[in-house]
Amino acid sequence: MTGTVYLVGAGPGAADLITVRGARLLAEADIVLHDALVGEEVLALAPRARHYNVGKRAGRASVDQRFICRLLVRMGLRHRVVVRLKGGDPLVFARANEEIAACRQAGVPVVLVPGISAGFAAAAALGTSLTERGRSRSVTLVTPSAAAGASRDLHWADAAAVAETALVYMGASHALLVKAALIERGVSPSRPIAIIESVSLNTERIIRGTLQELPDLVSRLGDGPALLVIGDVAARASNVALAQASAA
Ligand SMILES: C[S@@+](CC[C@H](N)C(=O)[O-])C[C@H]1O[C@@H](n2cnc3c(N)ncnc32)[C@H](O)[C@@H]1O
Repeated sequence: MTGTVYLVGAGPGAADLITVRGARLLAEADIVLHDALVGEEVLALAPRARHYNVGKRAGRASVDQRFICRLLVRMGLRHRVVVRLKGGDPLVFARANEEIAACRQAGVPVVLVPGISAGFAAAAALGTSLTERGRSRSVTLVTPSAAAGASRDLHWADAAAVAETALVYMGASHALLVKAALIERGVSPSRPIAIIESVSLNTERIIRGTLQELPDLVSRLGDGPALLVIGDVAARASNVALAQASAA
């Protein structure tokens, strides 16, 4: 029996920030393969499924992507509803195409279910529009992180340097590089930055400063995932804790 693999976005962390469709699929799921950043409360939405943690966290032992693809195909060939649950949106810095290709090659149908990406949740936590009229007509999503063996080019820095608002995923562990590469490209050292850690969770934290201060700001972070917002909107916003909003 061939089932269907659903690539579902779990949202930024809070269990009530997954889509209704995503939650419904979790309730029906036989199998859930999830990322490290997906928390217990979200996983509790899939009570009848067998859960597999196939998460990768930067700088820690991680599951090989080829193994994840093979496991996904094997599950898709044997079970009716297989949910591949990814933090945020499954199509943003989440290696979705490799998993889609593996399933299609094996004849397993794939359905994509979007989620709220961390960058958009970060804007809500900051209490600001990412595209404030008259100030920012562009938003750029970048990451300085590259897969092992992939090109170490700096196209991401070229894009972030000209963006009115840049959302930098997986940027905290590359703080020195982000600072140096942007300043080298003419970005002012006083450009505002906000770092949002664990957005939408009870441990959510926002740290503000400037590009010049980035390595110091990052040294104050805890263990949670963190996203950098670079641009004028980072300075103008007033914090609206997303974790509190969801608990209200
Ligand atoms: C591998 S990427 C996955 C991105 C995810 N697909 C998305 O759309 O948000 C992981 C990075 O996303 C960001 N991230 C994910 N969840 C976050 C959270 N709750 N708070 C802050 N940043 C988060 C961090 O930059 C983290 O290093």
